[in-house]
Parts: sequence; structure tokens; C-alpha cells
Amino acid sequence: MTAPLIDPFHRAVSYLRVSVTDRCDFRCVYCMAENMTFLPKKELLTLEELDRMCSTFVRLGVQKLRITGGEPLVRRDIMTFFRGMTRHLESGDLKELTLTTNGSQLERFADELYDCGVRRVNVSLDTIDENKFADITRWGRLPQVLRGIDAAQKAGLRIKINAVALKGFNEDELFTMAEWCAERDMDMTWIEVMPMGDLGNEDRLDQYWSLEDLRARLAERYTLTDLEERTGGPARYVRLEETGQKIGFITPMTHNFCESCNRVRLTCTGQLFMCLGQEDMADLRAPLRGSESDAALEEAIRAAIALKPKGHDFDYSRQKVDGQMSRHMSHTGG
Ligand code: GTP
Ligand code: 5AD
Ligand code: SF4
Repeated sequence: MTAPLIDPFHRAVSYLRVSVTDRCDFRCVYCMAENMTFLPKKELLTLEELDRMCSTFVRLGVQKLRITGGEPLVRRDIMTFFRGMTRHLESGDLKELTLTTNGSQLERFADELYDCGVRRVNVSLDTIDENKFADITRWGRLPQVLRGIDAAQKAGLRIKINAVALKGFNEDELFTMAEWCAERDMDMTWIEVMPMGDLGNEDRLDQYWSLEDLRARLAERYTLTDLEERTGGPARYVRLEETGQKIGFITPMTHNFCESCNRVRLTCTGQLFMCLGQEDMADLRAPLRGSESDAALEEAIRAAIALKPKGHDFDYSRQKVDGQMSRHMSHTGG
């Protein structure tokens, strides 16, 4: 029996988030610079290497695999990778295979994703206003995403909408988005904006809308019941009694959840980041490429987990941004 991955703070690592590309067909203003330079393709792990990497993590006890990017569905032939992971679902070693996507390519891939064993998909969507959508994504088209969501639901995929709470941007859509999701039988999660990426002339404090405030406003219209159930990620959920819908809150700023952290992140070049909000990382590409046996890779993974930090240092409470990370969210996949 292989020993599970346990970090120095006694947290078991059972959730791997894998960024399969740093590219994206949108440029969300809080996530990427307009003129991002992307990695040369030869830097990326090949699909075979991604398979070997993920399979090794599954062997070491990872039960939940979330594929991210950039936009994971713009990676060429990515369905080959998904199809490969199906064997771990079938064997029961992997409990969930899922992805976080901007939805732009879902129309094309929804059926195939379902066939590969994917059942839940998180779609990042911060607004349902077409003009505001074009602004925040810099050039995305909302109807394309909406068609993707429809196709995914038709294919049998359960959709959760992820929205980053942004002051002055989507405050006015709190109720309209809740109702829009409820009408389509979709859950949704609000996320507090984290100080990541080089900000240029943006200011996270100006953008920051705390979920404590968002929740209080939601409670003015709906009866909120706290739910115990979790989905393996950091969100805490409430049910809106009037619609039956679930709303999640991801609160890195107001209620730190690092104590129960169960995840690590693999970049598309094979670096393992132990925490979203810290620089600690280990190169897994060298041990992967250095030997045909997986022993060196397993050892490198265990050594990396032994360095997982306690948590992030993001803090806006002193009316300035502390713990800022220059790394873009797209690098480690959110
Ligand atoms: P499920 O619970 O399975 O639905 O997913 P999840 O919440 O783990 O994944 P998702 O991709 O929906 O995460 C949404 C966002 O929450 C991410 O893009 C991040 O912004 C934030 N987030 C997720 N995990 C962490 C984490 O470990 N630390 C911090 N600080 N933020 C996180
Ligand atoms: N703070 C919080 N969430 C972010 N995301 C991207 N950048 C940030 C940030 N600075 C979210 C996106 C998407 C996921 C991949 O990461 O909205 O849901
Ligand atoms: Fe885990 Fe780091 Fe996220 Fe905290 S910030 S929950 S330690 S990944």
C-alpha cells in the first residue's frame, strides 16, 4: 500500500489541479495582461507526459483531478488526455475528473467530455451583460459561452458558474445572476479577488468586494441556509430557500480556508506549486524526463509535498495590498 501524501501541517493532498496550457482565447483583465507572452510549445509537457504525471499522482492518492489553464479546451488534442484519464475513473482510483473553463469551446467538446466521465464543469462567468462581458474578457463573446453552457447541460454535465466579485463591476448583477442561474438549474460560486498578477495600472483594493458584504446583500432578498456539504474545493455553500439553488462563497480574504487545504497545482511546464499564494514550487519535469521508471518522480513529489507552506499571505485589511503575487493566475490555473 502506497503511503498517502501528507504535508507538514498534517493535511492530506488528494486534489490535483493541472494547468494544461497557459494560453487562453480571452484576456480577463484581472487574470492576464493584454499583451501576455505565451510559452513556446516545446516548453509544455506533452500529452503523454501529462498522463504519466497525473497517473503518478493518482497512484499516490490523488482522488480529484481538475483540469485548468489558461483555457484547457484550447490545448490541441486535449480530449486524448481526458480519454486517458477515464481509466482511473473506471478503476475507482480517481473519484472525480473535472475542469474549470471559460466555456468558449464547450459547444464543441461537451459530449466528448461526458463520454470521458466528466460530470461537473465550472464555468468562469463574471457577468451576463454582453457589453460588460466583452469589456472584462477584452474580446470574448458572451453568446458563444451561452451556447457552450446549453450544450454542456444537454450533454448531461452539471454546470457551476464561478464569478469573481468585483466592486463597481458586477455588484448590480448579484440578483440577476442568481436568478439566471436558478432558472437554468445551475449552482454558482462567488470568489473574492486575490492580489495576483502584475497589476499595471489596476488596483485590487479598488476592485475588491468582500463576500461578507455580498452575502449580507443576498440575505436582504433571500433566506439563506448554511449547508454542511462540500465539493472538495474551498467553497462554503448556502441554499436560497426561495429558489432551492446553491450559492458558494470562496473567501481567501475574509475567511481563510488554508487550514483545510487538500490541493497542489501542476503547471503546463511540469512545475508543482504547493500553494496558490506562495512561490514555493518544485520542478517535476526533470525527474519525469530523466527516467523511464516513476520512482524518481514519486520521490520528487513526496519531497515537494514536504515543503507545502501553511497558507497564503494575501491581506487587504491595512488598506493596502499585502502578499501580492506577481505570478498570473493563468500560470497555476486558479
Ligand atoms: P469545486 O469545489 O470542485 O467545484 O471546485 P473548486 O472550487 O476547487 O475549483 P474552482 O476551479 O471552481 O475554483 C474557483 C476559484 O477559487 C479558483 O479559480 C481560485 O480563484 C479559487 N481557489 C480555488 N482553490 C483555491 C485555493 O486553494 N486557494 C485559494 N486561495 N483560492 C482558491
Ligand atoms: N482572484 C480570484 N480569482 C481569480 N481568477 C482569475 N484571477 C483571479 C483573481 N485574481 C479565477 C477566474 C476563474 C479561475 C480560473 O480563476 O475567474 O474562475
Ligand atoms: Fe491551499 Fe494555498 Fe489555497 Fe491556502 S492559499 S487554500 S494553502 S493553495
